[in-house]
Amino acid sequence: MATKITCITSFIIILLLFISSAGLGQVVTKKTTSPDDCRMDWWRKARFGLFIHWGLFGFLEKEWDVVNIPTVEYSNLADKFNPVRFDPNQWVRRAKEAGVQYIVFTSKQHDGFCLFDSKYTDFDIVDATPFKRDVMKELAQVCHKQGMKIGWYHSILDWRHPDATEFPQKDTCCGRRFPEYVQNQLWPQCEELLQNYGPIAVMWFDGEWIKEWTEKQGKELYNHIRAIQPKTIINNRVGRGRQEKPGKHDTRKYVGDFGTPEQEIPATGILNYDWETCMTMNNSWNYNKNDNHWKSKEDLIRKLSDIVSKGGNFLLDVGPTPDGEFPAAAVERLKAIGDWLKINGESIYGTQASIFANQDWGRCTIKNGKVYLHVFHWPDNGILAIPALQNKIKRAYLLADKNGSNLNFTCDNSIITIELPQIPPNNINTVIVLKVEGLPKIASDKLTRLDNPDLLKLPCSFSVIGDTSMENNPVLFHSRLLLKSN
Ligand code: GLC
Repeated sequence: MATKITCITSFIIILLLFISSAGLGQVVTKKTTSPDDCRMDWWRKARFGLFIHWGLFGFLEKEWDVVNIPTVEYSNLADKFNPVRFDPNQWVRRAKEAGVQYIVFTSKQHDGFCLFDSKYTDFDIVDATPFKRDVMKELAQVCHKQGMKIGWYHSILDWRHPDATEFPQKDTCCGRRFPEYVQNQLWPQCEELLQNYGPIAVMWFDGEWIKEWTEKQGKELYNHIRAIQPKTIINNRVGRGRQEKPGKHDTRKYVGDFGTPEQEIPATGILNYDWETCMTMNNSWNYNKNDNHWKSKEDLIRKLSDIVSKGGNFLLDVGPTPDGEFPAAAVERLKAIGDWLKINGESIYGTQASIFANQDWGRCTIKNGKVYLHVFHWPDNGILAIPALQNKIKRAYLLADKNGSNLNFTCDNSIITIELPQIPPNNINTVIVLKVEGLPKIASDKLTRLDNPDLLKLPCSFSVIGDTSMENNPVLFHSRLLLKSN
């Protein structure tokens, strides 16, 4: 009887491991799609960036409220913009302490206010505010000096410009001469951004949904930017690719180097495509004094591992106050992530997507010769069970353990069991390293992908039916399996 129960238990464990390895959480290994892998190389390794949304929105209680404010009244907010506490050295120091590898800063959001000295508008920080300093020049200089990569977010539309607003009905306004706006303002401003601030790592466009913007215009702008700074990486919102079902995003048809899931983590990553989740720390991109819905440190640290385990980058947003400081709640969270990364950064930077699915204990990232198990939920019985690997395992240890003491483990045909200390060094996410020979691979006799990447081969005791359709969200690659025991 006991043997029978053990057998049934083992069968259930194996079944669960297979389901979790093969089911909805399965992560696909990203194939390189960029024509220029060298250009993308640093970005793919960086994994963690800081988004900074700054400007006049910070005076409002809701960033979208601008829609209800007459243009002239909104413009008057610039008279109040005097961020005397702005200190680019402090910003970059905070970014470094958080462990981010690049910064993307808002040169112009949809409201049209420019945070740089532009010759093509007076509605900018130098011409329209008492502060009169080109904060982007100062920020770029510090970034270049400190070895922090800097990029610009730039909205294609402009709510204040009569020819580029989404709300032509808002004020009495002239007709649409959008191509003229593109030629006389958008392009020259992009040139300013790429010619006056040194090497720009990323151009991060937004507002491409304005109905006048076409894929052709996107391609032309993309090519123009690449001609000015060949190494700049440009997001997919430069064109119309995001309007299509992202899973069907055809990189030959739509322009852009990487996808931009917003406020979401695609459940299984995005097949054959570089991507970056951008996300707010509370619910607002810009400073919003009334928004106290801060995500916890735990949540953010785990989200970072989650995203990286699915092959993506995390662009985490901070909205500095109109005075020029990072809000205290953001500072606290950035510091917590940085503290975790100081010990565990090896399991994030330069790693690739998991070889198995979201396990219920946490996430996984890999590198040549290493498997990193990010344990969110420490097992009560002190045993961590993961699907078997093809690779020879040399040893297992805790990344936080300075002495790197070996952890005991056993392998059978289908499962690796690792004995853990009773108390985890970190309750949020403790990383266990498996040192292996070669590039980690899940055991092939247990679970393999067929030529069709949507299907998995399971042992003969299971029959498999593959179904790749996922009507609601084709961005996600899913292997749906029906498993039936013999
Ligand atoms: C939305 C918001 C914008 C923000 C962007 C980030 O477009 O309107 O403010 O910059 O999301 O993805």
